[in-house]
Amino acid sequence: MTEKQNRKAAVLKEFREYVSAYNPSDPKIKLKIDHTYRVAGLCERIAESAGADSELAWLSGMLHDIGRFEQVRRFNTFVDAASVDHAELSHSLLFSEGLLERFVPDLSEKERGLLEKAVQYHSLYRLPAELTAEEKTVCQILRDADKIDIFRVNCDTPPEEIYNVTTEELKTAAVTDAVRECFFRKTAVRRDLRRTAVDYLVGHICLAFELVYPVSRQIAKEQGYLDRMLGFASRNPDTAAWFRYMREHIWDENPEENS
Ligand SMILES: [Fe+2]
Repeated sequence: MTEKQNRKAAVLKEFREYVSAYNPSDPKIKLKIDHTYRVAGLCERIAESAGADSELAWLSGMLHDIGRFEQVRRFNTFVDAASVDHAELSHSLLFSEGLLERFVPDLSEKERGLLEKAVQYHSLYRLPAELTAEEKTVCQILRDADKIDIFRVNCDTPPEEIYNVTTEELKTAAVTDAVRECFFRKTAVRRDLRRTAVDYLVGHICLAFELVYPVSRQIAKEQGYLDRMLGFASRNPDTAAWFRYMREHIWDENPEENS
């Protein structure tokens, strides 16, 4: 094995050991283990296509949600608002409590700094403006990868578990006007704008507008999960018409890029 493969194998081994303390057969834990591997793979692929450091990108994917396991153990929920900011928890476990060194004892100061920003900022609505170009790249790659895998989670996980709503609520709910407005403007939906069960689904669909790299949009199209989300069959006629509209316009050019 090459040195690079050795380093990866060591991180994977350590990750398996770390999560073994959190009952990996619990569906919530399993969901985050699968998510971690997928995000890491996506980070690597996006970084390669963007000409960025794919090893560091992969590592950011492996570690970004490490705080999710403690979040579930302590609060039995992934809802940050009802528990703890999971990105902050990942950040403090890794960078203040020494967990990072357990995974990678030999990172340079520079790599450590880049990884820190990526983990800390991965779930923010918008990245802070003052990042360097290099910091921005590592952050954007992780955020794209994370969003792409959210589409899969939406298709593989019952809505009760993701949104805390019943299937009945989801099938009959209306879409809030302010949430539709985000789709028209082609931006993500801020959490405080979401009112109804189906607003969460539209909110996740709108994450597609935030994908930075062309390869990320390509992967999202290829994987087909976004299409399945857009194919949601509502029993509310207004909502059903809205989903037809979104299906037709999801990949329209971004008005902001053209302005
Ligand atoms: Fe996360």
